[in-house]
Amino acid sequence: MSATSSAIQSTLVENRVFEPSAATVAAARIPGMEAYQALCAEAEQDFEGFWAKRAREHLSWHKPFTQTLDSSNAPFFKWFQDGELNASYNCLDRHIGTPVENKTAIIFEADGGEVTHVSYKELLAKVSQFANVLKSKGVQKGDRVVIYMPMTVEGVIAMQACARIGATHSVVFGGFSAKALEERINDAGAVAVVTANYQMRGGKELPLKAIVDEAITQGDCKTVRNVIVFQRTPTAVNMVEGRDSFMHEEMAAQSDVCPAEIVGAEHPLFVLYTSGSTGKPKGVQHSTGGYLLWAKMTMDWTFDLKDSDIFWCTADIGWITGHSYVAYGPLAAGATQIIFEGVPTYPNASRFWQMIEKHKCTIFYTAPTAIRSLIKACDSDEKLHPKSFDLSSLRILGSVGEPINPEAWMWYYKNIGGERCPIVDTFWQTETGGHMITPLPGATPLVPGSCTLPLPGITTAIVDEMGNDVPNGSGGILVVKKPWPSMIRTIWGDPERFKKSYFPEELKGYYLAGDGAVRSEDRGYFRITGRIDDVLNVSGHRMGTMEIESALVAKTDLVAEAAVVGRPDDLTGEAIVAFVVLKGQVPTGEDAKKLANELRNWVAKEIGPIAKPKEIRFGENLPKTRSGKIMRRLLRSLAKGEAVTQDTSTLENPHILDQLAQSN
Ligand code: WT7
Repeated sequence: MSATSSAIQSTLVENRVFEPSAATVAAARIPGMEAYQALCAEAEQDFEGFWAKRAREHLSWHKPFTQTLDSSNAPFFKWFQDGELNASYNCLDRHIGTPVENKTAIIFEADGGEVTHVSYKELLAKVSQFANVLKSKGVQKGDRVVIYMPMTVEGVIAMQACARIGATHSVVFGGFSAKALEERINDAGAVAVVTANYQMRGGKELPLKAIVDEAITQGDCKTVRNVIVFQRTPTAVNMVEGRDSFMHEEMAAQSDVCPAEIVGAEHPLFVLYTSGSTGKPKGVQHSTGGYLLWAKMTMDWTFDLKDSDIFWCTADIGWITGHSYVAYGPLAAGATQIIFEGVPTYPNASRFWQMIEKHKCTIFYTAPTAIRSLIKACDSDEKLHPKSFDLSSLRILGSVGEPINPEAWMWYYKNIGGERCPIVDTFWQTETGGHMITPLPGATPLVPGSCTLPLPGITTAIVDEMGNDVPNGSGGILVVKKPWPSMIRTIWGDPERFKKSYFPEELKGYYLAGDGAVRSEDRGYFRITGRIDDVLNVSGHRMGTMEIESALVAKTDLVAEAAVVGRPDDLTGEAIVAFVVLKGQVPTGEDAKKLANELRNWVAKEIGPIAKPKEIRFGENLPKTRSGKIMRRLLRSLAKGEAVTQDTSTLENPHILDQLAQSN
């Protein structure tokens, strides 16, 4: 086995422990495990008092709250309910008149390498101008605005401008299809869409505005009155008279002063769609006060943020990580952050290392899938290897989105962190708003592949199906026993689904994360073992198997039935495998290849390229139980190429197993 494949594959039981250095501990905000334990004890003794104190310390309130937690309508918990504030005020205005006002808020590096610096003062002026643009279009407090933008300063401006006027934004990742966009626009009832003519990724110009047009026309999005277009490239696009206008022209006509609209702490700051175990994505609704507290506070806790840091989170604003650790957290904390438009492999696979060197990045936060793909690329070419770059500015590394396998962890630790930088493996979800289980860089001894311990005040536990605690060393269901300020408030427009998905009756009122986990016997450290529902994690992106199945069966001229499962993949964590029953005969050879390709492209069009099955297998039938339920466990074995150990005596037609074992 080559060094690369062993670094990617190994998932051995982990015994290595890395203690923070004495110097790291001495300089940290939470210095050492005693300090961490003291915070945990404080939260346990006076749960509400603990959060009230943090909310007062970290946020600027226009009207102070008098009640911390309102559990009267659980699980619809309310935090800091009668308090009033504005998120954009807390991210921008609050720094004016302090030394932060002239500090660089954003170092933007475009796909092609051009660099722009934007100070806090400049950002405030731009956000205010765009907030005035939205107001001039009649967008009001409580209205929803869909943002379908590339990773640019303008994307952050659009989000902050919504927050500034109290409009609820819903950012849709620029890789989603017209169909996916249309569903989200309609579910949210958006009055406006902010987009760009094109986006630049890896030297290619990819359309955005044309997809918005397609979504609005095909989806008959009646609620949308305006489309505002950021002109990212000089290429012209179709503009609809009376509906569409250019961002720069509109902004030029507006004042750069716009007082922030003060809202209640529970006012919905945003709705972000994510995949669940049914075909329909869930609009995860977050609050203003509790959410912002978390984004700001975890910058201090998890990243041990200092004034001099250059923070870089590589996530796109279309995902929750890009909300909490690009659009809100770093700004609320007054940090300087890097925003990168492009992809890690363009112009070559050393782009991240080049940028860390060039911008003297100190905190680098990325996904295991990116690390694994770069390990592979660097291995084949010395010039691309991190050792060819000066990465000595780094002091903290972070990982997010999926479990990081110990060997990829070790590679990250040695080659990027120079065995000097703690790695914070942050476990959290769209629904949790921010970090839940993570090491603290100046306190927690690190164990590769483990997200270690919950943040102070976070009551994660592992339980059985009845909600009873299981001992350390036994696997179980990951839950959170008590509410926390940045938790999901509801599913937009579907409170019943919120209750059923996250607070099932049998679990004693605990929050169900949807992941399996196990705690180590020695330290009680958490290790996430993967989703326990029908959700896949592909390259750190959540995909519902039902969503992909619905997309496949929507190809009604071809497909009769489809079942989708995940199988482990060295690079992407999990890979999507689809078992398909066609309306015609089971295809073979070239025909099968052609049809599989057609279906993969169809799924890309229905959902987005990230949902394309890696493999499609055809059969006359799907294996089902007597009661007609698809035997997914069996399909998972087939997808992995494992021998089938399940009972197959009930199968009407056992030879389908041979058919489905073949890949095309
Ligand atoms: C799911 C949430 C967290 C923001 C980005 C993804 C998996 C996330 C970790 C981690 C192991 C992780 C879980 C979780 N996950 N972080 N550090 N270790 N698994 O947010 O799209 O809402 O997905 O990602 O399965 O439930 P998301």
